Amino acid sequence: MNLSLDTIQSSDFLTEEQIEVRDAARDFAQRELLPGVIERDTHEKFPHEQMKMMGELGFLGMMVDPKYGGSGMDTVSYVLAIEEISKIDASAGVAMSVNNSLVCWGLEKYGTEAQKQKYLVPLAKGEILGAFCLSEPEAGSDATSQHTTAEDKGDYYLLNGTKNWITNGGNASVYLVIAQTDPEKKHKGINCLIVEKGQEGFVVGKKEEKLGIRGSDTHSLMFTDVKVPKENRIGEDGFGFRLAMETLNGGRIGIAAQALGIAAGAYELSLKYSKERKTFGKPISEHQAIQFKLADMITSINAARLLTLQAARVKDAGLNYVNAAAQAKLFASQVAMDTTIEAVQVHGGYGYVKEYHVERLMRDAKITQIYEGTSEIHKIVIAREILK
Ligand code: CAA
Repeated sequence: MNLSLDTIQSSDFLTEEQIEVRDAARDFAQRELLPGVIERDTHEKFPHEQMKMMGELGFLGMMVDPKYGGSGMDTVSYVLAIEEISKIDASAGVAMSVNNSLVCWGLEKYGTEAQKQKYLVPLAKGEILGAFCLSEPEAGSDATSQHTTAEDKGDYYLLNGTKNWITNGGNASVYLVIAQTDPEKKHKGINCLIVEKGQEGFVVGKKEEKLGIRGSDTHSLMFTDVKVPKENRIGEDGFGFRLAMETLNGGRIGIAAQALGIAAGAYELSLKYSKERKTFGKPISEHQAIQFKLADMITSINAARLLTLQAARVKDAGLNYVNAAAQAKLFASQVAMDTTIEAVQVHGGYGYVKEYHVERLMRDAKITQIYEGTSEIHKIVIAREILK
């Protein structure tokens, strides 16, 4: 039995269509992402060509209705695909997750028909990329503390401020920007505006040099007196913070899947290596010290996979998935960190060099405990949900 295809990934648990999507993502990742992944990590290169192909395969608007250019799939298919992509290239995994969960989702759920035709259709087809702009120099975990302002000028908003650590920041064409319109109303005075690259006063700032997910494109963004037409606001006046929070609930399922992929990738490499590498006259897989590590890895990965699939299923069932998403993201990101550290240990000296991939996966894992809500924020979210 192939351990990467264990029971919870079998047809007892998944539909034929979900298995097809997973296998297509797995084939694509092996064929197109694996060959250049070390080079892209080393030189911080965005996987342009590969993202284009992912768009053509329908991976960038997976859950969007086909009438808006999407693939019309469920969240389970989406997490299976992100896991497979992230096993090989977690940078492509986050670019995919942001486009699907943080950009397409909000536009489809709350956008006007005109916004959908103009922005959602090309985003869902993968013709252009989107970015979600919430974090600021002084507003990370404390997301209500927005300093970017969107002053109401009648038929347009005047946008001023800076956004930080924006995924797809340099390569996006469409940006969903969260900004404060009426500070007296606190989070109920916040709006979400669609801004296009190239608008006067909008500058893409420096690209961040990062520990991990180095192939992903992370920038600061500056807005100086950018005129954003009122028709580019998503939802009612003051709905922007609620929209951001609802968006992140789904985004967190995508990041749980990314973390799961990082962990599963490290585990699969460790399993293979442990059967090949010999010490003291036998494969290291025959040493109990290594067996225990592999046993811990697969057990925690399967637990993370169940939580992630559960969150996806709760969302697909139309139920409240805040808690399920937070639990999946909290747990899967911890599993990604623990598993990748152990994967480096299993590989010994080879694990510390780039060629064996696990050091990259270890660096990539860390961000999953930070973005789309830190682990600490997730504990707050979970506690609030169970105590209300
Ligand atoms: N779902 C829906 N609504 C939510 C919500 C959720 N998960 N969390 C909060 N809300 C709503 C609340 O119900 C409340 O609305 P009402 O006033 O109408 O009742 C409103 O939002 C404000 O909530 P709180 O009073 O709880 O606000 P708070 O300041 O105490 O805490 C927080 C809010 C949960 C800590 C929130 O700030 C948070 O989630 N912070 C983390 C931010 C985050 O995840 N950032 C990620 C950046 S994006 C990113 O990382 C993208 C990338 O690059 C990959």
